[in-house]
Amino acid sequence: SNSTIVTVDGPSGAGKGTLSQLLAQRLGYRLLDSGALYRLVALASINKAISVENASALRDCASTLDVEFAPADDGVTVILEGQDVTAAIRQEHVSMRASEVAAVDAVRTALLQRQRDFAVAPGLVADGRDMGTTVFPAAQHKFYLTASAEARAQRRYQQLLGRGESVDLAALVADIQARDQRDQSRATSPLRPAQDAHIVDSTEMSIAQVLEHMIDIIGV
Ligand code: C5P
Repeated sequence: SNSTIVTVDGPSGAGKGTLSQLLAQRLGYRLLDSGALYRLVALASINKAISVENASALRDCASTLDVEFAPADDGVTVILEGQDVTAAIRQEHVSMRASEVAAVDAVRTALLQRQRDFAVAPGLVADGRDMGTTVFPAAQHKFYLTASAEARAQRRYQQLLGRGESVDLAALVADIQARDQRDQSRATSPLRPAQDAHIVDSTEMSIAQVLEHMIDIIGV
């Protein structure tokens, strides 16, 4: 195909979101924030009072998601059924629910084609957990971005504070560990590096350093 795919997978708080956005900008590629899709299914299911046990209702929810990603000055505005949910999908309870609905097979299957449809010329940067393993196994450039759990919790903490959310660091570490655990142990598309992924540990690196490292590897 005439679309170059760059995949960026890894646990939460490793800097995937920021780096994927910067990479896409730098390369002039489109961006797929696949986590946002799982967050949207989570939010929609909360709004519709669908339980995490109800796989078929969750699947229907995922396959009929009425969502729009609109470019904005500070990134992307996420619109669900006509409503701006950009901030709502980032709330901590929605993050938790997202990792629960993401463990439901039928939800992952329902979102698969929707994610692949993001690939356009000249290229796509795909941010998630299974971009390089399941969604885009033939991607030209695969990255697995990680960092220590403490560093990741600390970054998330600063992010949430910046948004005016009051959070408890210890609770955040526990949340991150619970989500990592669920993401790594689920049967379908568990979080793990693709066998041909470049593993980048950002614990001791700045965003700018990681970006340059990734650009070097891509070779542009
Ligand atoms: O990346 P983000 O934190 O926004 O993703 C929210 C949740 O969605 C993750 O904790 C994970 O459980 C799920 N997810 C996934 N597969 C992806 C992207 C996200 O299972 N490709």
